[in-house]
Amino acid sequence: MAAIRYNDINTSAAWARLHQHQRATRHMHMRQLFEADSRRFQRFSVELDGLLLDYSKNRVTGRTMELLFELAATANLRDWMGRLRSGERINISENRSVLHYALRLPAGSELIVEGVDVVAQVQDVLARLTTFCERVRSGGWTGFDGRRIRDVVNIGIGGSDLGPELVCEALASFSSPELDIHFVSNVDGQHLARTLERLDPATTLFIVASKSFTTPETLLNARAARAWFLQHAGEGDIARHFVAVSTNTDAVRDFGIDVEHMFGFWDWVGGRYSVWSAIGLPLMLSIGPDAFRQFLAGGHAMDRHFFAAPFEHNIPVILALLGIWYNTFYRAHTHAIMPYDHGLRRLPAHIQQMDMESNGKRVGRMGEWLDFDTGPIIWGEEGVNSQHAFFQLLHQGTRLIPCDFILPLNSHYPIDGQHRVLVANCLAQTEALMRGKDEAEVLDEMGSVPDELVDILLPQKLFPGNQPSNTIAVDRITPYTLGMLIAMYEHKVFVQGAIWGVNSFDQWGVEYGKQLARRIEPELSDGAETWQHDCSTLGLIAHFRKRHRG
Ligand code: F6P
Repeated sequence: MAAIRYNDINTSAAWARLHQHQRATRHMHMRQLFEADSRRFQRFSVELDGLLLDYSKNRVTGRTMELLFELAATANLRDWMGRLRSGERINISENRSVLHYALRLPAGSELIVEGVDVVAQVQDVLARLTTFCERVRSGGWTGFDGRRIRDVVNIGIGGSDLGPELVCEALASFSSPELDIHFVSNVDGQHLARTLERLDPATTLFIVASKSFTTPETLLNARAARAWFLQHAGEGDIARHFVAVSTNTDAVRDFGIDVEHMFGFWDWVGGRYSVWSAIGLPLMLSIGPDAFRQFLAGGHAMDRHFFAAPFEHNIPVILALLGIWYNTFYRAHTHAIMPYDHGLRRLPAHIQQMDMESNGKRVGRMGEWLDFDTGPIIWGEEGVNSQHAFFQLLHQGTRLIPCDFILPLNSHYPIDGQHRVLVANCLAQTEALMRGKDEAEVLDEMGSVPDELVDILLPQKLFPGNQPSNTIAVDRITPYTLGMLIAMYEHKVFVQGAIWGVNSFDQWGVEYGKQLARRIEPELSDGAETWQHDCSTLGLIAHFRKRHRG
């Protein structure tokens, strides 16, 4: 197949100017930028509805930002935003619109796509979810022995797990004390078994969450959960204990779940963007329909901002461009996300799927090869635990690692001043990463030390600094602010994909491993035919056959 170059963003003048600018400014230190401009914080921060983005601790000047905005214009970003918003089928390889933002449109607004009233569809499902959640939460929906539901087990994986789990954890302080929500994703039997051993089948509700309803891990777990349930109850009781969230009605019916108890969504919602849809059912059960609508409202506030604000004040656009600055022009390979909030500890994992499954692509949306780096490796861990784990490398390692620090200014759990310690740590890290510690400061701290020791110790106590970070502060984590945060990252990912020219909404890369797993699974049994694998895979299959006692 001949390689066709379609997206020529990397041959544009804007791209070349950014390379040139990077070469000219790469030795500039942020410490000097701060010393030279006492209003740098004001110049490089944006506030929206109580969410503050401080991006002043980045290796940028006003000129850098101008050039980045020029790149966005060269890539026709506004046009792409319009296409997304109008429901054009921008997910070309799957011939689908990308309308997760429509899940957050308030009732009464209008969005007609290809003759379909999208808002009406969304609101219908929301109304059904609301009725269902109210019954479960009030105790009106009972299990097979007449007792109310106490535990909800969401069985799903990827986007049908990460988003819902994150939001339930993050909003635990808003949750109903009557219900415990559990998440089972891994096909490792340990995950389901350890969850079920604590539960009473008569008061447990299972949500089988799968957009496709063909994902083997989810179906295996769902079948195992049903088998466990049937040890204690009859087939006729399944209807009260199993509901489904999916786009695949036939598969749900075939599985044996009453489609009356299925909550649908649409092919224009990507799995990793689906927490706003019926996939968010665990959250609605946990915090209630009104608070769930607040979550949607927070996402919608970010959408309005994203679609309307000029790029210079547009939070997702700025974040995306800074990411491109490091990823493409500095060739930084990774981006770390550190939430200084225990409830947000699953945020890095959720953004990891959202970003890496979306922009981890090596070809453009029209199949053309891209000869520049696209999506970064997203990773991270909750602060302050991460400080005691990997911050050494951030401070004194050899790599450039841009970071996002997520900081709620108030805690739902105000234990004796602990939140101030948490905040102080967060701010201290961003400052230390930015300014570093120079020779004079180290010598000053060392006091009188013999010369030969100075030679050994001085280099070890130096901090180069100049490590970029964004601080994203919100008043506190509420359904609304959480909605803003997640939508902010979704749009960031979209902007980067639009500029790099990739389709951020398909995920062909996860298919190959699934195909091979289907082939290898029967081969793990003794006597089964073994394909022409490489000798490592053959060796491992043989090793398993010899040692497995299952
Ligand atoms: O394997 C990747 C993936 O397709 C994700 O994109 C998706 O979130 C996950 O699997 C689960 O898919 P489903 O909701 O269809 O079970």
